[in-house]
Amino acid sequence: MSSDRTRAAGVAARGAFPQVRMRRLRQHPLLRDMVRETTLSLRDFILPLFVRAGRQQRVPIGSMPGQFQLSVPAAAAESREAVQLGLPAVLLFGIPERKDAVGSAAWEEEGVVQQALRAIRDAVGDRLLLFADLCFCEYTDHGHCGVLSDRTGRTDVDNDATLANLARQALSLARAGADCIAPSGMMDGMVAAIRQALDQQGFEHVAIMSYAAKYASAFYGPFREAAESAPQFGDRRSYQMDPANAAEALREVALDVQEGADIVMVKPALAYLDVVRRVKERFGLPVAAYNVSGEYSMVKAAAERGWLDERTVAMEILTGIKRAGADMIISYFAKDLARWLAA
Ligand code: PBG
Repeated sequence: MSSDRTRAAGVAARGAFPQVRMRRLRQHPLLRDMVRETTLSLRDFILPLFVRAGRQQRVPIGSMPGQFQLSVPAAAAESREAVQLGLPAVLLFGIPERKDAVGSAAWEEEGVVQQALRAIRDAVGDRLLLFADLCFCEYTDHGHCGVLSDRTGRTDVDNDATLANLARQALSLARAGADCIAPSGMMDGMVAAIRQALDQQGFEHVAIMSYAAKYASAFYGPFREAAESAPQFGDRRSYQMDPANAAEALREVALDVQEGADIVMVKPALAYLDVVRRVKERFGLPVAAYNVSGEYSMVKAAAERGWLDERTVAMEILTGIKRAGADMIISYFAKDLARWLAA
């Protein structure tokens, strides 16, 4: 008892005002730089790109100022610019010419992302990592992330039928030169199915970044305009997670790790920083956070009105995501960040 009290008194003596003044370390800008705990490095950023079939070079995305749907050559040019800016990676999404019930354009050799992978590789060689998103919502005419069935009495995505198609899509993207496959459909068993397919065909070197804890989030709104992938009926709550759940996110991640995921992602980022932190602490493997379209567009919209300072707010958000434990961040701000960090 008394020794506890003595110890507590000692701590207080060493650790309290006026001996301790926290502001001492904040007085000089150089000292502030030296004690900074979290720094943003461009080398942790992945730039998402939307590649569109057809001849139009750059189609502006209304709800995402500064972002475009790019033709295959435009995506190659954009990737060259990413390399010049010092970015290490892009993440490709495709907007195909034709959609059908199963999303078969996703696994065509001449699919839009497959073409883009080859064109970008030609343009930049191995100076850029090529991540390819793996999902069906951009490719199906109903806008859901897989094959539909009524087996349960409710029209819903058929998990196991979708797995076979994901494996086909993954192989096709690997053949076209993807360094990393990023399944975003939240199907059970997707990582195992993809890993097995890749390994059987000699692509054991291709990595998997799993959207492991992906929430059914309204923050994806602008993306669905960008990728033309809004569900034509219902919503995604039978496969994406309930925003209220965190223990469930840890189970999702544990399963993906078991199935062979190399990198696990939490998405969106901002409203889920607690999940980012817990995943990093619990599993210790590389964690990606997706700073999604709605998080980007909110800042852009407020900045356009002069309500927020875009650069400072964006850097604060990205620093927060990093501080929470993200090793890498997927962000539409990646190119802006390159300029801000260089300035
Ligand atoms: C596809 C997918 C989505 C996003 C990434 N991959 C949309 C969705 O699940 O509806 C969202 C990305 C963003 O909002 O920036 N399944």
